[in-house]
Amino acid sequence: MSPSQKPTRQPHWPFFSSGPCAKRPGWSPAALEGACLGRSHRSKAGKAKLAEVLERSRAILGIPADYRIGIVPGSDTGAVEMALWSLLGARGVDMLAWESFGKGWVTDVVKQLRLKDVRVLDAPYGQLPDLARIDGDRDVVFTWNGTTSGVRVPDGAWIPADRKGLTICDATSAAFAMELPWDRLDVITWSWQKVLGGEAGHGMLVLSPRAVARLEAHRPAWPIPKLFQLAKDGKLIEGIFRGETINTPSLLCVEDAIDSLRWVEEIGGLPALIGRANANFAAIASWVEATPWIDFLAENPATRSPTSVCLKLVDPWFTTRKPADQARIAKDLAALLETEGVAYDIGAYRDAPPGLRLWGGATVETADLEALFPWLEWAYDEIRRNTP
Ligand SMILES: Cc1ncc(COP(=O)(O)O)c(C=O)c1O
Repeated sequence: MSPSQKPTRQPHWPFFSSGPCAKRPGWSPAALEGACLGRSHRSKAGKAKLAEVLERSRAILGIPADYRIGIVPGSDTGAVEMALWSLLGARGVDMLAWESFGKGWVTDVVKQLRLKDVRVLDAPYGQLPDLARIDGDRDVVFTWNGTTSGVRVPDGAWIPADRKGLTICDATSAAFAMELPWDRLDVITWSWQKVLGGEAGHGMLVLSPRAVARLEAHRPAWPIPKLFQLAKDGKLIEGIFRGETINTPSLLCVEDAIDSLRWVEEIGGLPALIGRANANFAAIASWVEATPWIDFLAENPATRSPTSVCLKLVDPWFTTRKPADQARIAKDLAALLETEGVAYDIGAYRDAPPGLRLWGGATVETADLEALFPWLEWAYDEIRRNTP
């Protein structure tokens, strides 16, 4: 096989990681100049910054006025786990899992909380479980967008509007990139480091009025650490949802979150974010269509994520090899692109089938993805020529 030509044009911004994701276009540390540093987060100035994150997030996402929104410790994992620990146990629960993060929530509920009335509805990488099996009398825990398989739920139509149970939705790779049907969701979580390319460590937690009612009525059978406590003596701790965080946040990260939210407002709000993610996905889809050795991991087009786009290698040269060889080849491919400085962090997640994962959220420029595709082809050719 003759070597393919090495491309000359490089992506301007080779950051395609699925978290922490690329900073917004034009970001520099100067964006943090207004940070409220060296001050208490309980000072008037500190609280105003925290409240600004809450208000801007609510407005951009169109969160209903009667839903609470708060900043919590421990990033998205912290937000999800505080919801699981605080809310579950009052009803049976359906756990939906189709990739590594959903499976992690199953482990929490089955092995840590040891709930008895649990149904695990799972599916292999690339597929969704049967959403028609959801029972509105039970609680449901699910990820809106499975970041490690690139499979998302297509919409919220499968969630009963008149449900009795709560829907607890890990939306970290979906919020700010996809429409979320707030009326079908009771707990919604995400973290700053995802779609808006913010700094890590802080989680966002949104609660519907029904979730608040559960918090106030239900006493979990297990102890809850201070870091996870959302209610005290049967009352919601309202301060958390006004910017009085449970423990000390980084006001540098807060400033960065504000910067990303201001950028969203400048470019046109949520529709612009969704438009950018969809344009990135369309560019990837055209390339996949034209490239015989690669395909989407997500089998059903309606479930393909526009943010965490997971791709599998499908040509027989690859698929006829032993699993360990396949894993090594996929890693070599990602490593070669990193060495060339054209794409960082695009290997599949460690528990996922070997392949590539390209982030297509709004902070990524379509032109950078387009500049990357010839490099992907060149790198795959190189690997094929050099692998015995
Ligand atoms: C769907 C999903 N849930 C949870 C997490 C964990 O997020 P964090 O590291 O912000 O806690 C991630 C991170 O990639 C994710 O994609």
